[in-house]
Amino acid sequence: MKFAEDFIFGGATAAYQCEGSTRAYGKGAVSWDEFLEEKGRFQANPASDFYHQYPVDLKLCKMFGVNGIRISISWARIFPDGTGAINQQGIDYYHDVFKECRKNGVEPFVTLHHFDTPIGLYKNGDFLSNDTIDAFVKYAAFCFEEYKDEVTYWFTFNEIWAVATNQYIEGTFPYGEKYNVTKAFQAMHNMMLAHAKAVLVYKEKNYEGKIGVVQSLEYKYPFNELKIEDIQAAKNEDVLQNQFLLDATFLGEYSCETLEIANKLASLQGGKIIIRDEDLEVMRKAAKVNDYLGMNYYQSRFIQAYDGENDIFHNGTGEKGTSRFRLQGVGERMEKDGIDRTDWDWLIHPESMFDMLLRIKLQYPNYKEIYITENGMGYKDDFEDGIIDDTPRIDYVRRHLYYLLKAVESGVNVKGYFIWSLMDMFSWTNGYNKRYGLFYIDYESQKRYPKASAYWYKRISQTKELE
Ligand code: BG6
Repeated sequence: MKFAEDFIFGGATAAYQCEGSTRAYGKGAVSWDEFLEEKGRFQANPASDFYHQYPVDLKLCKMFGVNGIRISISWARIFPDGTGAINQQGIDYYHDVFKECRKNGVEPFVTLHHFDTPIGLYKNGDFLSNDTIDAFVKYAAFCFEEYKDEVTYWFTFNEIWAVATNQYIEGTFPYGEKYNVTKAFQAMHNMMLAHAKAVLVYKEKNYEGKIGVVQSLEYKYPFNELKIEDIQAAKNEDVLQNQFLLDATFLGEYSCETLEIANKLASLQGGKIIIRDEDLEVMRKAAKVNDYLGMNYYQSRFIQAYDGENDIFHNGTGEKGTSRFRLQGVGERMEKDGIDRTDWDWLIHPESMFDMLLRIKLQYPNYKEIYITENGMGYKDDFEDGIIDDTPRIDYVRRHLYYLLKAVESGVNVKGYFIWSLMDMFSWTNGYNKRYGLFYIDYESQKRYPKASAYWYKRISQTKELE
């Protein structure tokens, strides 16, 4: 099994997690600034200082066979208030970054929204407000035109499910609200609508590049596959996450089953999800011209039936075994014998990525291309005299790439893989001790050190063969 000659061996980043300079060079504030200040645990400054270090990072890409980079544009660097006046310094900055990408033979894959909504729009309801949808589409149109000669590959949003559920169900993203299912599904729908509108703007202008959306997917298995209640519990989560987003992406609509489950949960809380016919019309049109799916894939879930009180606890410290996810009327996420976990309780289950890829091919025959836009392992790397032996991460990535190749062999059109992350960076809810990078960062000196995984990744990218 070999990778295609034009396969992208990428590294992924996100503006707020790596740039630093969060309130400098004309950038406006975003939803996270105050939220993190209030929590007081950690801040995204200077993070990996990509704002200044990008020439070094892109050179490292070139040296280590990384031929694609996922970058997100910080909306508030372009429009400090989310809408209205532009910030020329921010606009120029991304021109410089894209030029540097070209210089090093690294293809930029650019995301417009990776969790960081400008603060004014956030305070006005974020994506629950139509104003944010309109402002997003204007910002997207601006970027398409401004960077049309430099960017071929666009993504509208990163992980609509993560944004919505972390904001309103898990409480780990700003606003920190918990168990509000109605708001979570309304936000998911509104972001899919904003995505669809941006796709149509892009296509109407006949730009030469491609556009899609990044979804986070997780295969959901019943904890006990012989128990009808567990089968239903797995189905609930699957419908609410995978089917909701995949149907919206590839068909531009939601199945009766999705609407039934989502509305039932909302009505239990006295809420209602509003999906207008005209929204679906726009989404259907966009689904027809959408070029690809970015799939972020980290783990699967084993779910058992649960009808008790809502009880979610996020393991943000790396103390194995501390996380809980029990959502009333949906299910409870379980550990599973024989399936290992990271210190943050993320299941390591690469076969499930194969199951998901195959499912997309079978269920949505109109899909065109898939990029694995994120996959990787959070780990407390040891740094000994400049040597970072991250064998567990190599093993994690190797096993996922193996199943990626198997999916390709089974006819799934996967065009590239982006390891999360290119270099170590700030983790939204875990801070700095959860590292993912191919390159280790000493946050004090901002020096970069290639980990064992970087040397390994380079060999794969050069030989196109999985070792
Ligand atoms: C993805 C996000 O959900 O997972 C990234 O797109 C994030 O931004 C990554 O950093 C890993 O998550 P975490 O919480 O371990 O940093």
